[in-house]
Amino acid sequence: MTRRLPDGGLDPLAGCEVVGPKPDDTPYTHDELCAHARSCEAIVSLLTDRIDADVIAAGAAGGSLKVIANVAVGYDNVDVQAAAARGIVVCNTPGVLDDTTADLAFALILAASRLLSGAESDLRTGRWHGWGITQYLGHDVHGATLGLVGYGRIGRAVARRAEGFGMHVLHHARHDTGTDGYVADLEVLLRAADIVSLHIPGGAGTHHLIDARRLALMNPSAVLVNTARGTVVDEAALARALHEGLLFAAGIDVYEREPQIHPDLLSAPRTVLLPHIGSASTATRTRMATVATSAVATVLAGGTPPSIVAA
Ligand code: GLV
Repeated sequence: MTRRLPDGGLDPLAGCEVVGPKPDDTPYTHDELCAHARSCEAIVSLLTDRIDADVIAAGAAGGSLKVIANVAVGYDNVDVQAAAARGIVVCNTPGVLDDTTADLAFALILAASRLLSGAESDLRTGRWHGWGITQYLGHDVHGATLGLVGYGRIGRAVARRAEGFGMHVLHHARHDTGTDGYVADLEVLLRAADIVSLHIPGGAGTHHLIDARRLALMNPSAVLVNTARGTVVDEAALARALHEGLLFAAGIDVYEREPQIHPDLLSAPRTVLLPHIGSASTATRTRMATVATSAVATVLAGGTPPSIVAA
């Protein structure tokens, strides 16, 4: 157990010997992860733990590591290939956080389009001196064209919310979804959308998918929302685009080098920045924990858990 889980998260592991987290709940170092991997049968990891080939090799050398259960739907922090090569099962927590994450994506769509962060910050810091007809003029969300990049469970949950706002919804995915609004060419979608929301996994295949060139294809009045993984966007290029007015606004929950944030993004105008809270409701985080620990219990009992990640 690398970190503390929400209350009840450990219940499926009743009867197991649980090692960790550290008493002060600070992350294990890479060396500590390797040492524990050598002696444990299972690792329950968070997305902030780097479970790389060394940790997996240590687990394989110890001979007891059978399963790594990552308490997240994303698993770009785990070297899934290395685990598969050693016969170690990797599990994630799909399905239980879609609506909570879609709620947050929609909150960012609204907050960024209507400039909520800047307006609230002015009010709190005494810079608001009364109503003005030209103040805080954002862009309407209702009736806007929403471009979803990625159309898995979370993307579709955002699409359902967008219908309620009378938005025109387009989506891009690697394979034709056969659903209305599918756009085969990402760049066509970027040009067409008023608001672009990202719902694709992190990892090498999507690294800097949204780079300076693609940001430049977006409309100067457009809004970018990222609740997926920070690595999908070139953060420096995004900050530049916002400073230069190539993009109207951004709502960002995930960063390339969390918890570090590019200083130019911190100072960028019309930007709502959140500390990776997409799935952060008590109910959802508890469900994520129990899905992960149930998967461990199933593997340790010789069974096959429902959420195995393919290499
Ligand atoms: C959160 O970012 C997750 O992948 O579950």
